[in-house]
Amino acid sequence: MEFRRYTIEETRAYEKKASEAIGEKDRPAFHLTPLVGWMNDPNGFSVYQGKTHLFYQYYPYDTCWGPMHWGHAVSEDLIRWEFLPAALSPDSDPDAIGCFSGTAMETEEGHVLLYTGVSKVPNGDGTETELQNQCLAVGDGVNYSKYENNPVVRGEDLPDGFNRTDFRDPKFWKEGDHYCMIAGNRDENRFGQILLFTSTDLRNWKYETVLAHNDGRYGGMWECPDFFALGDKHVLITSPQDMRADRYEFHNGNNAIYFTGDYDAEKHVYSYGDARALDYGFDFYAPETLLLPDGRRVMVGWMQSWDNNFLPQGRKWNGMMTIPRELTLKNGRIWQIPIREIENYRTGKTVYTDVTVAGDCELEGIRGRYLDMTVTVKGGSYDSFTVEIACDEENTTVFTYDPARNMMEADRTYSGLIRDVLCQRKMRVADRNGEIKLRFILDRNSAELFVNDGEQVFSMAMVTPLQSEGIRFSAQGTAVIDVEKYELVMK
Ligand code: FRU
Repeated sequence: MEFRRYTIEETRAYEKKASEAIGEKDRPAFHLTPLVGWMNDPNGFSVYQGKTHLFYQYYPYDTCWGPMHWGHAVSEDLIRWEFLPAALSPDSDPDAIGCFSGTAMETEEGHVLLYTGVSKVPNGDGTETELQNQCLAVGDGVNYSKYENNPVVRGEDLPDGFNRTDFRDPKFWKEGDHYCMIAGNRDENRFGQILLFTSTDLRNWKYETVLAHNDGRYGGMWECPDFFALGDKHVLITSPQDMRADRYEFHNGNNAIYFTGDYDAEKHVYSYGDARALDYGFDFYAPETLLLPDGRRVMVGWMQSWDNNFLPQGRKWNGMMTIPRELTLKNGRIWQIPIREIENYRTGKTVYTDVTVAGDCELEGIRGRYLDMTVTVKGGSYDSFTVEIACDEENTTVFTYDPARNMMEADRTYSGLIRDVLCQRKMRVADRNGEIKLRFILDRNSAELFVNDGEQVFSMAMVTPLQSEGIRFSAQGTAVIDVEKYELVMK
């Protein structure tokens, strides 16, 4: 399909008008959605002049993927987002068919964006080859100018055998007196690899090395890499395409994984172990992290999947981000908790202690679709314990814990879907002798479950009608639980 090429001015005029049809109540309260149309990956997650900026892969003209733009939002606390006009549109030759994912940083010259410009070149025989090159733009937090000599890194300058079409998603940072950049690529066997470059001026980049390489175990192409120190280790995050499951890990065909290891920054050598999944839910991909000025490393991901996404009829936006999550490293594993600023929006506290659940029960005051709720199973004697959210006679979203098998199962068969798709997923959890802590963050169109203080996370988008707001507990046997629930209200 041929798409028309829109300038940034045209895009801004269009999105302003088209987004008027979307009311505040039509969106989640605190999860970022596109201003209008389609969103995928988070981009340019960065602090600039004291505010946090979050850009996103954006196609404003339809609710499906199209030639990529960068949408833009800003926040003071990473919970309440304010839309800014689109930052990039594919309106220059090096990015003529898309401004793909990338990152941003505050530097002396302003707010610098590095992104992948996608273009096509004729092969001379009537066919065309798609090229992915890295491009630069600099702005003031609202308006961005593309560098006139883009691209700054070309696929054609890569070593022989490295793929020129799959070369994308630059992440850059400062290390001492120079900048480093990594990007996803494929080797000659079509396996993913992460390439490292250095520069002193962000415009001239030197290829250094393959920082990490897929040995065939982790999918095909590696997208959206991120690389940072966490605790006493270095973490590499990447999102592999075509991922095969490995028992209870990697159950999304487009998955997000991480490695932990040691990095020798002088020699550019990264030694790392086996990968783990970052999230066990249905909807999580292409995360990006940011180091906040106070030292917290926070991550957002795209809370949707390429394979299953559901758009209720008439909805004019498609796609959303996860809640930003604070990351820490414990026992070789990344733990994630919802960013603590969410606690400023808590109201209506309801607490229950030592409730015995045998069969089904509902608890007075425990319901709603904008919630921060922790359910702690403290003991008892039970074969399974279930929490249902967003439920009424017709709908329910079910989370069941089986203590004998250390298994958590989620089921969204009745979460508002008009046609059945894959709806169940299992996550193996730590053995804590029948005890488990389940923290749910609900925000209208999503549920994020943080298990055992963030040891594992399960994220999902849902399209259950908003009036289904019941919460039900049940046990086969007898479970003893505490519940602490807050409503989340944007003041
Ligand atoms: C990941 C991804 C990136 C690419 C972008 C295009 O979801 O495929 O690799 O830059 O989306 O929208």
